Amino acid sequence: MYDASPSARRRVAVLSGAGLSAESGLPTFRDSNGLWKQHDWRHLASPRGWRENPELVLDFYNARRAQAWAAVPNAAHRAVAALESACDVVVITQNVDELHERAGSTRVLHLHGRLDYARGTAGSAPARRLEGAPIRMGELCEQGTQLRPDVVWFGEAVRHLEEAASYVQAADIVLVVGTSLSVQPAASLADLASASARKVLVSLDVERVPDGFKFLQGRATDVVPQLAQEWMDDA
Ligand code: OAD
Repeated sequence: MYDASPSARRRVAVLSGAGLSAESGLPTFRDSNGLWKQHDWRHLASPRGWRENPELVLDFYNARRAQAWAAVPNAAHRAVAALESACDVVVITQNVDELHERAGSTRVLHLHGRLDYARGTAGSAPARRLEGAPIRMGELCEQGTQLRPDVVWFGEAVRHLEEAASYVQAADIVLVVGTSLSVQPAASLADLASASARKVLVSLDVERVPDGFKFLQGRATDVVPQLAQEWMDDA
């Protein structure tokens, strides 16, 4: 949880999505060239897709993992990390890349898992770090089931949801950035922000602007560094 001492710094919750990593060269899902415009998510991001054609699923995530491994954090990731020098920051991300961590953010909750970890299909084996390497068909976990990416597919339980909800509720500032807010339950977290919090949504475009949020339309690398600087000066 946030620092509860009387001298505690301002609490900032950052809710991020694929648009934040777009300028690091990683595709989003629903923009015109987005992944779900080119592929059917039912085949690639669902337990049924995995059962029907695990090789196709592995190929898709292996390619994404290699791409994410080669990517570098952009100015928006770095600005979010820099905010920790002045504020008590938590990053709650739908992204499966690790660009927040690589930029220096120290508290990151991955709602949809992490691309660079593998686990057994049955879910009981501990996740194994991949360092950008592919998962091959026939590669088994210690319990003997096929390894799969440790990401959350549609129909599977989102991670850290309760913890994320309490961070958003208690935040003085809520920054939502680079997400279409179209996937639940992650999208509803924004609605938990308190009435008194400063609430900003940064995106190229969105399906909806949650109540009380100021919508700043623009690229994350243009808008987020300015906002972070403002909040650090103000701290
Ligand atoms: P989407 O692809 O749905 O939305 C990306 C958002 O980022 C859009 O609103 C874009 O306008 C915006 N955007 C694109 N480039 C940007 C930039 N340079 N600066 C600022 N904004 C930009 O991605 P998510 O909302 O993250 O889940 O998608 C949520 C979930 O849907 C993903 O985690 C994934 C997917 O299905 C699973 O696979 C379970």
